[in-house]
Parts: sequence; structure tokens; C-alpha cells
Amino acid sequence: NLPPVIAIDGPTASGKGTVASLVAQKLGFHYLDSGALYRLVALGCQKHGLDPKNGPEIAELAKKLVISFKNGQVFLNLEDVTEAIRSESMGLLASQIAVHPEVRQALVSIQHGFRTTPGLVADGRDMASVIFPDASLKVFLTATPSARAERRHKQLIAKGISAKLPDLLQDLQERDARDSSRGTAPLFMTDGAKLLETSELSIDQAVKAVLDWYQGSL
Ligand code: C5P
Repeated sequence: NLPPVIAIDGPTASGKGTVASLVAQKLGFHYLDSGALYRLVALGCQKHGLDPKNGPEIAELAKKLVISFKNGQVFLNLEDVTEAIRSESMGLLASQIAVHPEVRQALVSIQHGFRTTPGLVADGRDMASVIFPDASLKVFLTATPSARAERRHKQLIAKGISAKLPDLLQDLQERDARDSSRGTAPLFMTDGAKLLETSELSIDQAVKAVLDWYQGSL
């Protein structure tokens, strides 16, 4: 009898991280940001000067990395890398190293480790299809590319980071294409998943939709 999982998958900058962590908070569940794991491996890869195309070498590194999460902060080998992993360039590098099956395999057990009582909300690309196929609720959360680029733009500006909307839109589309077309664990809406289109929804409305579906599934 494993604890329940709510799996929330979707493209980059769809708002799934914000929605997933709020749903976790409301239910008192644990939260897994699986994208952060790929970003951490990307950062490790960069620090060690590894070739992003060398899957086996990156997988070996991934197995050795000491990864921890505490109070919304992310640590790599005890160094606080919360900010460092959030850059656009690290997102792009993450999507490059995430194409390798060996790298994905190296991250399976750490993801399963997050499933503890009373339950877990997990967000990513393959939460429903690969990592937690028995999830109680599967949500595919998305928004139009322009809505997502605008959200990302606002976030960056709020952090004082300058960014151009057309560049962000191009980055998003490049990552969408790579994440959806790769051979292993591509981003797609699995059977039995509920579609949540958030372009016209507030964060509260999106959170409520997920909570209502979850209550309805009990
Ligand atoms: O969600 P986030 O933008 O932080 O993810 C960064 C990259 O990591 C994605 O573009 C994707 O290529 C990869 N990723 C993945 N599988 C996951 C989560 C993220 O391949 N479950």
C-alpha cells in the first residue's frame, strides 16, 4: 500500500511547478520538482566539463551527485544552487542531457524515494507515464506558447534579470520540440490524464481544479 501520488506533467513554463507545490501544501503532501533533478545533473555536467552528448559519462556522474532539498532550497554536494539551476541556459542544458536513457535511469530511484506518507505531488514530463504510472490522479497542465513565454518573462523581470520575449518564446519552442520528440520518456499526455489548459486561468483556479479532481478520485 504505497502512499498516493498526484502526477502533474506539462511543457516548460506552463506553471506546473507553482500549481503542484501549492496543491502539495494544501494537502500536506510532499512535493517533487523532477525538473530540478535534471537541472542539477546539467549543472554537475557543466562543472565537470562533460560533453552533454555523452550519456554514459553523465549517468555515472548523476549517480555520484549528492542532491538534497530543504525548505525550497536545492543543494548539490552541500552547495546551495537554488538560483544557479534556474537560469534559462541550465534549462536548455537540462533538456539536452535528459534525452539520454542512462541519465533518466540514474534518476529513477531518487524520484521514487519522494513517495512517502501521507502522499506526493510530483511534477515533470514523465511523472504519469514512467515514474508513477499508478498515480491516483494524472494531470497534463499546459498553456499556449505565448502565454508561457509571457509568464517566464514576468518572472525574470521580477527577479531583475533582463530578457527578451521573442528569445524566450524561441527557447521554449526549442525545448518543447526536444522534450516531445525524444525517444525515451517524451512529453505527451498519457491515457487517463486530465487536461488542464491554464492560459486563461489564475493560479488559484488551476490549483482548485486539481484539488477538485483529486477529491473526486477518492
Ligand atoms: O521542468 P523544468 O523546466 O525545470 O525541466 C528542465 C528540463 O528537464 C526539461 O526541459 C526536460 O527536458 C527535463 N525534464 C525531463 N523529465 C522530467 C523533468 C524535466 O526530461 N521529469
